[in-house]
Amino acid sequence: MSNHYLEVAIEIALEAGQILREEYEQPADIAYKGDVDLVTQADKRSERAIVTGLSKYFPEHSISAEEGTGHVRSSEFRWHVDPLDGTTNFAHKYPCFSVSIALAQNDSVLAGVVYNPIYNEMFAAARGEGATLNGKKISVSQVTTLATSLLCTGFPVHKRRSSQNIHYYYDFTLRSHGVRRDGSAALDLASVAAGRFDGFWEFGLNPWDTAAGILLVEEAGGAISDFEGKPYVVGGPVVLATNSRIHEEMRRAALTISQRDPGAPLEPPR
Ligand code: IPD
Ligand code: CA
Ligand code: CA
Repeated sequence: MSNHYLEVAIEIALEAGQILREEYEQPADIAYKGDVDLVTQADKRSERAIVTGLSKYFPEHSISAEEGTGHVRSSEFRWHVDPLDGTTNFAHKYPCFSVSIALAQNDSVLAGVVYNPIYNEMFAAARGEGATLNGKKISVSQVTTLATSLLCTGFPVHKRRSSQNIHYYYDFTLRSHGVRRDGSAALDLASVAAGRFDGFWEFGLNPWDTAAGILLVEEAGGAISDFEGKPYVVGGPVVLATNSRIHEEMRRAALTISQRDPGAPLEPPR
């Protein structure tokens, strides 16, 4: 059954991706939901196509969609939809953004896709069936130490000044080969699944940012938790996604960073 859900999600993500490609050719039409929280015509057109498509196939399922056009049904099945993850990149014509669609049954994600329409990369996973990129199996990297890892993170668009993440960014940069900030959490997670990044963390993400990506990582052999090592529930305050081999080391480093006084000057980790 998960395969059927996945096929539908792929079909709808391709349709939404076509809309994003069309809109990408036009001058960006930007409105603001917060001081740096952007929304464009592309977000709205893409969401309309996805919600229409999902409602046609699964009228009895709930849909949580970022731009607010989803609906609640009395069902244990819920679709988490980010019609354009990486709107800031999109608006600046930086081709790193995606469509993210996932189906959860209660708290368990059953199927998920993350699609970059500019690179035509479709990451897909169904629970128990593995993860793929354009139909080919993918798996997480073999890197075993934090010091030889390439990491990724992101920063919130709301309450930016109170985010402590700059401390984690600084510290993890000095403990690894480097930390990228690519601007699409869904693609960041897909990149962990594909072995391009060895680890990713971010605070304050929404269920539509992470639901598809965490299934990709799990199905590609990676590990997902919060910083305490407890299971990550979609929409939880912090997500840590790794190739599993560096998970404990990253988690312990995060714990050390969290114990520092956030007001203290940045000092290199020992
Ligand atoms: C954002 C991206 C970004 C992350 C932000 C998200 P949006 O989603 O995923 O990488 O750092 O926290 O809000 O707003 O472009 O859909
Ligand atoms: Ca998003
Ligand atoms: Ca979005």
